[in-house]
Amino acid sequence: MIEQLNQFEGESLAKLNALNDSESLKAWKGEVFGKTSLLSTALGELGKLPKEERPLVGKRVNEIKQKLTAAFEEKDYAAKAADLEKELRSEPYDVTLPGRPVTRGRLHLISQTVREICDVWAEMGFQVYRSREVETDEYNFELLNIPKHHPARDMQDTFYTTVPDVILRTHTSPGQIHAMREYYPDPIRVVLPGMVYRYEQITARSDIQFDQIEGLAVGKGIRMSDLKGTLTDFARRIFGKGVRTRFRSDHFPFTEPSAEMDIECFVCGGKGCAVCKRSGWLEILGCGMVHPIVLKNGGYDPKVFSGFAFGMGPGRIAMLKYKIEDIRYFWGNDLRFLSQF
Ligand code: PHE
Repeated sequence: MIEQLNQFEGESLAKLNALNDSESLKAWKGEVFGKTSLLSTALGELGKLPKEERPLVGKRVNEIKQKLTAAFEEKDYAAKAADLEKELRSEPYDVTLPGRPVTRGRLHLISQTVREICDVWAEMGFQVYRSREVETDEYNFELLNIPKHHPARDMQDTFYTTVPDVILRTHTSPGQIHAMREYYPDPIRVVLPGMVYRYEQITARSDIQFDQIEGLAVGKGIRMSDLKGTLTDFARRIFGKGVRTRFRSDHFPFTEPSAEMDIECFVCGGKGCAVCKRSGWLEILGCGMVHPIVLKNGGYDPKVFSGFAFGMGPGRIAMLKYKIEDIRYFWGNDLRFLSQF
């Protein structure tokens, strides 16, 4: 029996030495230590052996087991290391390569401009007030003292819906009425940013959908000089401390008197260039003292209260600031344009 075991040991070791991959090592292990292997059967047959041989055989079996196990583990370790090495080589990761850039999103230039403008107004005590984009004819026109025959009501300018008298707002001014009716009788300082819609030909200078920021101040004793001072302060905060402003008389049905504010052209410093069309001035916003009829429609008694309002286009301001020549870039969704800002 001992003789058989020694032979088994020698043969098994020889076989093991010839193996290199983990697959065949596994097979070898099953064969050598399995139920049908001599190591198992020898133990099972101990009882059939002469008494004095039994301990010797038992001891020899254990010795062989230990030896073969140790030899196997050594081989197995080497094979696993080789497997790992192979895997790493077949899928080479070069940790020194530069990473793939992750592109970051950004705010649209108009959104950036709207936020910048609202931030400045916030510093000056004006709160953001949100108003609906779908309006009634009454709020968009009637309550703002825009009479039935006014050209702004023309089919050319307004998007009508299938519901009678329900339209897309053509300006943010109807928000003035909403704000007044909500705030009455408190004083008001609000800015209303939002989208407006006009049924127009899309050109480099005009789009059917664009942003406006409305402003409204209502209280006791508010005068035209407050309007001029506040808007001039605003212009300096947005365009720089030294910027000069001028007010030109204008007409809006919902303000009286009405004006347009220009700022000195920041491209040529007022000398005259292509951006300001040689005038030295850039038109920035429309404004005026809230018309008594509008105050009354908002619930404020015009004999007690007064106020000023203004409206500006952030898109126009961005176009001037960044010398953008075509308004259609804003909705073009071209990253080559958008990612510049
Ligand atoms: N609603 C005017 C427009 O769309 C702008 C404006 C607002 C003018 C408030 C005066 C006062 O052109």
